[in-house]
Amino acid sequence: MLPENPIPHDVTGQDQLLEVLQEHMRRDTRASPQDRAVFTGRLTRHVRRLITSLYAVYGPRPDFWDVVEQAVLTAWDSYVQRPQDLKDLDRQRAGDQPWFSSREAVGGVCYVDRFGGTLAGLRERIPYFKELGLTYLHLMPLYESPGGNSDGGYAVSSYRHVDPALGTMAELAEFATQLRAQGIALVLDFVFNHTSNEHAWARAAAAGDPHYERFYWIYPDRTMPDEFERTTREIFPDDHPGVFTRVDSTPAGRAANPRDPDPRWVWSTFHSFQWDLNYSNPQVFHAMAAELLFLANQGAQVLRLDAVAFIWKQLGSTCESQPRVHDLLRAFNAVTALAAPAVVFKSEAIVHPDEVIRYVHPEQCALSYNPLQMALTWEALATRDVSLLAAALAERHRTPEGTAWVNYVRSHDDIGWTFSDDDAARLGVDARGHRRFLNAFYTGRHPGSFAHGVAFQDNPRTGDCRVCGTTASLLGLETEPGPAVDRILLAYSLAMSTGGIPLIYLGDEAGQLNDPHWEQNPDHALDARWVHRPLYCANDYDRRHDLFSVQGRIFGGIRGMIAVRRGTPEFEGTTLIPFGTHTPHVLGYQRPGRHSVVLCLANFSDWSQFVTGETLSGFLPAAVSLHENASVDLRGGILLEAHGFRWLRVIPVS
Ligand code: GLC
Repeated sequence: MLPENPIPHDVTGQDQLLEVLQEHMRRDTRASPQDRAVFTGRLTRHVRRLITSLYAVYGPRPDFWDVVEQAVLTAWDSYVQRPQDLKDLDRQRAGDQPWFSSREAVGGVCYVDRFGGTLAGLRERIPYFKELGLTYLHLMPLYESPGGNSDGGYAVSSYRHVDPALGTMAELAEFATQLRAQGIALVLDFVFNHTSNEHAWARAAAAGDPHYERFYWIYPDRTMPDEFERTTREIFPDDHPGVFTRVDSTPAGRAANPRDPDPRWVWSTFHSFQWDLNYSNPQVFHAMAAELLFLANQGAQVLRLDAVAFIWKQLGSTCESQPRVHDLLRAFNAVTALAAPAVVFKSEAIVHPDEVIRYVHPEQCALSYNPLQMALTWEALATRDVSLLAAALAERHRTPEGTAWVNYVRSHDDIGWTFSDDDAARLGVDARGHRRFLNAFYTGRHPGSFAHGVAFQDNPRTGDCRVCGTTASLLGLETEPGPAVDRILLAYSLAMSTGGIPLIYLGDEAGQLNDPHWEQNPDHALDARWVHRPLYCANDYDRRHDLFSVQGRIFGGIRGMIAVRRGTPEFEGTTLIPFGTHTPHVLGYQRPGRHSVVLCLANFSDWSQFVTGETLSGFLPAAVSLHENASVDLRGGILLEAHGFRWLRVIPVS
């Protein structure tokens, strides 16, 4: 009944699709007339982008219109099951200014077990989240996953079950409701590049079920793996070379498959127990869309799209950030707009900055980690020179309307130096040598370094290496507490003021140090990222109100920034205008408001720095220093302490 060859830019099957849907909705006794009207309205608005995005991926298939129909029906099915309070949220959010670019938005991220023990334990910490000022809480993956090493939960065995050691899915939904009542949005991971090898689909594939074998990239021998590996890169070379592993290289694979030895190879970009899903099979898209919407219906308001760059494989390419990745995102986004429009996606693409920005779009990911600002903040802290960072803010900070960065200092992952070689070259920096320096600096191998970091995935063959360590340890809190506190606050001052959601890796605000025991856990010993994932340290948090303690200075400093940010209309939105300070050690940028501007100055040097009155002469002399709410006369210039920063309300000379 539907046309066989739709034309992507003049879609002819739309009317027929609507008819099929109307009929389906009429027969669905779970839905009210209002539900039908709302969904039909949304479909009218979004169907075109759903069709064109799916067409880009699955267009040549003879069953293309079935693919579209199935996607719409999956969305409908989730929509009718969506709890009423979330449907109300969908309505409230429609037409709102995006909540995430508000000056009140502040994020926190933690592991449930490490920060609260269990979901019940974490509930007890809601008053703390309020005290800190969070409006966004990202719980690291808390789903069922293999015992032992599960890549910190990023090997998901079921998207519908919480790890029983942490609680239940019902508790998670309840927790989301409680957070929402306190003005905090729940953020969950959607780990959609791969499942664990213990997921029911993977088990079935390992057992030889052809339907589920097609859910993964499984090959009978090395022919295709060798072809693909010609152009792909190794992500976790410590775990396995290349991107393929033997199907039976893990106990679960062996148990599932009686054939011995199993000759098959499976794509596993990360660990051998994380099997990449095959999105060239539309059944995978449908199955994962259903899992995504299930999580949306538990109350997640942001879904972090884990390892997004890897979801499409193209022979002869790097298999990262392929054009089809963006089409798939647009399709997932459209399905979500039908069923759970309050939900936004956050991109986790820790790749070249030219690629990172391509994910940031209201019809793909409205939010994205800002790995460039993160990496260059660390770069400037090491070099005491802000040139690369200033150039990045000037040229690479802007995102499309309706989107925002998530600005972070640390995440649970390693720090990779993902700046552009060309940007560096323009400033006379040799990128390769500079990365070598940064790795040496942060692993404490460079003379005079203050850092206590650990190398990660040091690959002598490719020269690749990344860095692990908590913010406090990387900034030398163990050995130079005074300057380290100032450096921590300096780093956070950027995340808090450049525009977008500042994200606190919980523990940072209490100055948590590296975990000295991380290697003692056999499940973690091969993964140095555990050095910066310490357990909640009650002693550190107990000191947070003691302004004479290191913890108190950090906590007070971060809370102070949050309070000032909240009270400063110029920090609304994401617009940033560069400001040249005429010193390589001091970063400057402006956040424009309606009648005034906030000028941010940040000194990365170990010495005081002076920004001259002449440099500031584009502003009227009378300014206000926001932290102290004190008047400042700009004609006298601004003196910044070592690692000091100032937020000044200024009026440009018109
Ligand atoms: C993301 C996660 C990282 C994980 C990887 C594989 O990069 O942040 O922790 O190891 O994906 O899921």
